[in-house]
Amino acid sequence: MAVGIFDSGLGGLTVLEAVQKRLPDVPIVYLADSAHAPYGVRTSDDIFELTCASVQRLFDAGCDLVILACNTASAAALRRMQESWVPPDKRVLGVFVPLIEAMTERQWGDNSPPREVGVKHVALFATPATVASRAFQRELAFRAIGVDVEAQACGGVVDAIEEGDMILAEALVRSHVDALKRKMPDPDAAILGCTHYPLMEDSFQASLGPDVQVFSQADLVAESLADYLDRHPHMLGQGAAGFLTTGTPARVSDRATQFLRRRIEFTAA
Ligand code: DGL
Repeated sequence: MAVGIFDSGLGGLTVLEAVQKRLPDVPIVYLADSAHAPYGVRTSDDIFELTCASVQRLFDAGCDLVILACNTASAAALRRMQESWVPPDKRVLGVFVPLIEAMTERQWGDNSPPREVGVKHVALFATPATVASRAFQRELAFRAIGVDVEAQACGGVVDAIEEGDMILAEALVRSHVDALKRKMPDPDAAILGCTHYPLMEDSFQASLGPDVQVFSQADLVAESLADYLDRHPHMLGQGAAGFLTTGTPARVSDRATQFLRRRIEFTAA
């Protein structure tokens, strides 16, 4: 049995960590499409094709349930996949709905009408494709009224993290936060809308200042997965745990080991 976790690269490891802490007995097959990262600068069609190919690989590895631990794929491809591609006996779930539910103080799956919530000025940091999709704003509008969202497309941050150039990643985070603040000087909350960004959470918080509440996804996604598996235990699948990449396994293993601070061995997908 195993659940699949997919990302374009290493960002989904932030979700994997939280899932392994919350559900230590659930084996995970992690797939990084490192050969095609970053997704955030690609077209929706491209993101759809690549995400379907990776998810199919996870289905082939025995997973019946796959988490897209990638906001870009969740924003640009998930709805189309669910409507036209996912077989009836499989499930593919995205990562940003649990985050928006937490931010709008809702229980998982609460479908009541939108209402006023605590946060009013929200800074959204995400990849160019996620920002262009406006999927966050759409999901938020279903649940909350009176929330002003300013989105900042953080070009370059995912590439820098994938290359292991954390000095560049930090400089880019600072400059993207400055650009956001020129548009919205006093956000009261910030969303890290890319699973790579929690690896830079300290830099985001330092640039935003201590009064801005920073929301990131990992723990929220782990909690909603636990809830989902409670209700659908048969979705655990048949596969055996492992780490797969479409990139160079040795290189991806080294970076993953650096981020998770424990030895991770990727094999070729
Ligand atoms: N971790 C992916 C996300 O959450 C990064 C996308 C990319 O490859 O640009 O959006």
